[in-house]
Amino acid sequence: MTEENLWTQLCPSSEIEDGNIKQFKVENVDVIVMRSRGVLRASQAICPHMDEPLKNGLLKNGKLTCMKHLWQWDITTGEKKGLAEQNLQMYEVMEQEGSIYININGGE
Ligand code: FES
Repeated sequence: MTEENLWTQLCPSSEIEDGNIKQFKVENVDVIVMRSRGVLRASQAICPHMDEPLKNGLLKNGKLTCMKHLWQWDITTGEKKGLAEQNLQMYEVMEQEGSIYININGGE
C-alpha cells in the first residue's frame, strides 16, 4: 500500500467548523472528526465506557467530554482526563485543498 492511498477523503473543510463534531464510517470503522480552537482531530466514534456516540459530546478548550457519564479526553493526544479510565483511539487527519482526509490505518 502506498502512502497516497492510506488517505480517505471525507468532506469539504467547511463542513466541520470550530466546535463541531461529525461522524463518518470509513472502511466499516466509525470515526468522528472534530475541530477545536482551529485544530482538526479524529478519533473513534463510540465512547469506550458504555458505547455512547461521541458525536453527541461536548467539545471545549481542546477537550472532548462524553455527556453520559462525563468521561473526558485531550483531543490532541486522546489521553484520558478527569473521570475517564481509557484513552481514545485517535486517527491521523489532514486538510488539503479545501477537503478533509483521514488515515484509519495509521492510528496514533
Ligand atoms: S458512556 Fe461515555 S462516559 Fe459513560
